[in-house]
Amino acid sequence: MIFTVAIDGPAAAGKGTIARAIAAETGFAHLDTGLLYRAVALRSLAGEDPVTAARGLDPVALDDPRLRRPEVSQEASRISAIPALREALFAVQRGFARREGGAVMDGRDIGTVICPEAEAKLFVTASPEARARRRWEELRAAGLGTSYEATLEEVRARDARDAARAVAPMRPAPDAVVIDTSDLTVAEAVAAALAVVRDRLVAAEGSRRRQGA
Ligand code: CDP
Repeated sequence: MIFTVAIDGPAAAGKGTIARAIAAETGFAHLDTGLLYRAVALRSLAGEDPVTAARGLDPVALDDPRLRRPEVSQEASRISAIPALREALFAVQRGFARREGGAVMDGRDIGTVICPEAEAKLFVTASPEARARRRWEELRAAGLGTSYEATLEEVRARDARDAARAVAPMRPAPDAVVIDTSDLTVAEAVAAALAVVRDRLVAAEGSRRRQGA
């Protein structure tokens, strides 16, 4: 079965948590596409040309804890505005989206550019303050001490850059369901997202039956 769940939205909105829960529930494979940009950013910070790094990226090596550092977040947001770099990362994402067995992907442009025909599209958002508080708590738990104010500043700067870039700007696809998680618990946000996915799975099954597939 081919079925893509596209989850887009601003920094630290809860996309990853929701994507992992959907993957666990459906058995679909999950790709956090932000990690691709972060892996390229890490190599760029080490002095490599970012486009060359993107072309030679090994998508298997995405579990480096350094990828979560704030300076890598900012560098990822800067280099992700380079069209040739996004193009270098397109094929691996596109292939993942339409793999047999279903895929859940989270990022900024999954429902708009990588897989506009995704069967389920979510745009997960929250107020900048709610997102900064969550990210600050995550960073502190990981031993990456920083202030709430600095984290809020970081989140705002990244959102502004990601939304304003010319290529694949962050924005909801016209047919995306928007979930604002500002006042939701994790369980409530996951339940809202799963309800959308289940609904779309039923619709896809119905249209497969009608086509006699
Ligand atoms: O986890 P968080 O929401 O903080 O960020 P991320 O999803 O890991 O993405 C890091 C940066 O990569 C973003 O700020 C974007 O600039 C870029 N990105 C992108 O341009 N397109 C994607 N599909 C995913 C990430």
